[in-house]
Amino acid sequence: MMTPILALLAFTAIADAQFITWFGDSCPRVPTKENFDIVPYMGRWYELSKYPNSFQNGECGTAIYRLEADNTVTVNNTQIKDDGSSDTVIGQARDDPDSDIPGRLQVRFSSFQPWGSYWVVDTDYDNYSIVYSCNYFLVNRVEFLWILARDRALPAGTLSSILQKIESYGIDSTKLVDTVQDPAICVK
Ligand SMILES: *[C@@H]1O[C@H](CO)[C@@H](O)[C@H](O)[C@H]1NC(C)=O
Ligand SMILES: *[C@@H]1O[C@H](CO)[C@@H](O)[C@H](O)[C@H]1NC(C)=O
Repeated sequence: MMTPILALLAFTAIADAQFITWFGDSCPRVPTKENFDIVPYMGRWYELSKYPNSFQNGECGTAIYRLEADNTVTVNNTQIKDDGSSDTVIGQARDDPDSDIPGRLQVRFSSFQPWGSYWVVDTDYDNYSIVYSCNYFLVNRVEFLWILARDRALPAGTLSSILQKIESYGIDSTKLVDTVQDPAICVK
């Protein structure tokens, strides 16, 4: 049970995330990747688009996932800020201990933070991943969505089928904002 003060801290930590629905709908029931296998999911992913959020406001976002001996995952999220400096946050991911559904992971970037959901909705491991997160904090619902890819771009056809998939799960794809992945800006 969270103490009120901890719950409040958790709340303020994410309160400036963009997609908060006050007293709103429940989280949509979205499937996760069938028989999700963490091993081929590890390695580097490029962030192609996402729901805007307060902690990833730079460009060129990458995530590197590394499986540790204790079966947790070390997360290295790096982005390039407006002033050209690179910004890295190290976090941790794990299987949701309260769920036996494959692909329902959790992530956090500080041991003072509550675990947030990280659902691998769909991935083919080699090209793309659709990651969705929906959590309740007090009276609101907070959603995150990312399209990740193994390269800095995806073929248009792959991208449009990803967007169709997202919509078919009742997740709003129109709020996605593209991340700059132009090598001229991102590769130094
Ligand atoms: C995180 O990833 C960045 C970019 O790939 C790399 O430069 C940095 O060394 C990594 N940091 C850690 C602690 O692994
Ligand atoms: C997915 O990635 C693999 C390995 O890089 C590649 O051979 C294949 O063509 C890609 N498939 C699609 C649909 O992009």
